[in-house]
Amino acid sequence: MKQLLAQLDETPTDIELLTTLLDVRGADAEILRDAATECMHAHVGDNVYFRGLVEVTNRCHLNCYYCGIRRDRDIPRYTVQADDILAAARLCSRLGFGSLVLQSGEIRSDSYVNFICDIVARIKRETRTVQQPNGLGITLSLGVFSRTQYQRMFDAGAHRYLLRIETSDDSLFARLHPPAQSLAERFEALNTLREIGFQVGTGVMIGLPGQTTRMLAQDVFTFKRLDVDMIGMGPFLPSSDTPMGHAQILSSAQRLQLGLNMIAVTRLVCKDINIASTTALEGLHPHGRLLGLQYGANVAMPNLTPAENRVNYKLYDDKPTAQSVDGAVAAIESIGRRVAKNVFGDSKHFFNRCS
Ligand code: 5AD
Repeated sequence: MKQLLAQLDETPTDIELLTTLLDVRGADAEILRDAATECMHAHVGDNVYFRGLVEVTNRCHLNCYYCGIRRDRDIPRYTVQADDILAAARLCSRLGFGSLVLQSGEIRSDSYVNFICDIVARIKRETRTVQQPNGLGITLSLGVFSRTQYQRMFDAGAHRYLLRIETSDDSLFARLHPPAQSLAERFEALNTLREIGFQVGTGVMIGLPGQTTRMLAQDVFTFKRLDVDMIGMGPFLPSSDTPMGHAQILSSAQRLQLGLNMIAVTRLVCKDINIASTTALEGLHPHGRLLGLQYGANVAMPNLTPAENRVNYKLYDDKPTAQSVDGAVAAIESIGRRVAKNVFGDSKHFFNRCS
């Protein structure tokens, strides 16, 4: 194992090597975890950055085969009112989380972009405090838009954008999505976002039906090639009443370990980026998000969506219930990490690549 890790330092994009590392279990996985932690300390420190998450709407124009809020699924639809988003943003600020993430289904209309831009501008204006004179940091995760639409979101005050590719494998992507969607379109959108000046993030699902460890190794290679600033990724969890709700997949324990190994290997390869420990990990283990932080993640996203809406933002069946903020902070401190308060918690990689 020590030799494999030394090799990774020499050839961080060797697909065979990445595949071998992603498949480790037991004592070797613990060595991988400790190496990722060491790498994290060296490149981004031991801070955990919080982002308050608001799931703005579960309306979606897309029909992805795995997703619980896909267009054809018969579920109650909601959009959080602007004033309620503002209230969540103020709470986020009061709690000392320096940043907010607005996430939603994909609605590529100008009227939705207007709604988002108005709310972003209001949040920036109305969350100014002594500690954060520029207001909260804002990350958007709303899907694919045109350059003009992305530019408007940036000008309104959002400065980070997360758009997952879901998988870097063309044929697997085609099995997950209707023909109208393509991986090329996502790559192009990521490029546009970067040109506009956003800190850019992407991610994949782990343990998808038909996904091999080699494909996951290619995903890590792709993160490196895209030179992204942030990663948000997690295990695939089946969602009933979707075309992939009953597909053959790896066991929970296997998907959990693979998800954790993906975080560790991504940390070792991409080094100074931000990596989120996602809710989906908690769907497989009661302390899944904590484990993610121990495998090299440095971002946590407590959910601030109004409770009556939250129950309807179900990307998958076993969505964990929210933890109290004090509980989350105490748990993070119990593993020897610190929660950074009242800061954006930007990606170090962004500043390193821009300097
Ligand atoms: N399991 C895990 N993650 C999912 N997502 C959507 N559906 C599922 C699922 N069934 C993820 C996708 C999407 C993000 C919003 O949630 O990666 O980009």
